[in-house]
Amino acid sequence: MTAVLEVENLSTSYYTFRGMVKAVEKVSFKLEKEEILGIAGESGCGKSTLAWSLMGLVPPPGRVVEGSVKIDGIEVLSLSESERRKKILWEKISMIFQGAINAFNPVYTVGYQLAEPFIYHKNYSKKEAFEKVKELLKMVGLNPEIEKRYPHELSGGMKQRAVIAMALALEPSVIIADEPTTALDVVIQSQILNLMKKLKQDKKLSFIFITHDMSVIAEMADKVAIMYAGRIVELGPSEIIFNRPYHPYTSALIRSIPRLRGPIEKLQYIPGEPPNLISPPPGCKFNPRCQYAEELCKKEEPGFVEVEKGHFVRCWKYDSGKQSSGGAMK
Ligand SMILES: Nc1ncnc2c1ncn2[C@@H]1O[C@H](COP(=O)(O)OP(=O)(O)O)[C@@H](O)[C@H]1O
Ligand code: SF4
Ligand SMILES: [Mg+2]
Repeated sequence: MTAVLEVENLSTSYYTFRGMVKAVEKVSFKLEKEEILGIAGESGCGKSTLAWSLMGLVPPPGRVVEGSVKIDGIEVLSLSESERRKKILWEKISMIFQGAINAFNPVYTVGYQLAEPFIYHKNYSKKEAFEKVKELLKMVGLNPEIEKRYPHELSGGMKQRAVIAMALALEPSVIIADEPTTALDVVIQSQILNLMKKLKQDKKLSFIFITHDMSVIAEMADKVAIMYAGRIVELGPSEIIFNRPYHPYTSALIRSIPRLRGPIEKLQYIPGEPPNLISPPPGCKFNPRCQYAEELCKKEEPGFVEVEKGHFVRCWKYDSGKQSSGGAMK
């Protein structure tokens, strides 16, 4: 398999008057062609900031502090803003933003807004651009005639399909979808998820799918990254993450999924909440909520260790560095 996206040691902070918010810390992962990477974690864990960082579009007062983001071998973070806009955005990587269904400009038709990238990035004539728009609308299961409509004339589900069409327009190597179905009702949500799976297969797309909902991740992802307090704490193939997770936070998230089949178990919520990222606890950031926490966990942060091929965990239970920096854990 070929990696379309390689992220190494990426850190992003917001410089606020209350202090530095370390929203993404030393994140590393790869996305292969035709793969869906699901990124999950509670609200405030840095998922959206990671997405903005990959696009090179972190809003102020945030900025990428260190790391590397390579798309098709091109280092995105060393490009100037104008080079990035010209060569990378929409053509190599595009994003379905959290809340994007409200981002359409109310005064232009949907078709006009979908035609823009073809006119500005590809120098298409207006006629050619509108032909492309019709193709795109069909691809996402919409009647091409809706190009004449204004955003307020579309339902939520139709708007979300149009947003997906926009992200697909220039056939990018990587598409990021940040909570794309959170605002939709359950039936529409499952239609949109099916559409994205179908597009992945038919068009051989690579997706990063971000959500706080583990049941959506279970349905969508080939590979899963679990984020906590700005770090990826576990990363691996979906079947491993869901069947035999290593990290206590991953296990707790999975236990919080309501069971649809089999005996109904009591829902196990995770007590407490993610830390404030201006002054997170020392050591493992999960230690105040972890039933396995030991002294070492409260002092030093564990490394991100490959425990088996393609399966990485950030927990002292699996970091052999523990021998050098404290007593062994069971
Ligand atoms: N514009 C901003 N200014 C300051 N802090 C921010 C800003 N945006 C996000 N944050 C902080 O960064 C952290 C990660 O937020 P975010 O990336 O939105 O997480 P998630 O998408 O997982 O909910 C949170 O502590 C949040 O408060
Ligand atoms: S490092 Fe310690 S506190 Fe953190 S998840 Fe592992 S056992 Fe729990
Ligand atoms: Mg978010």
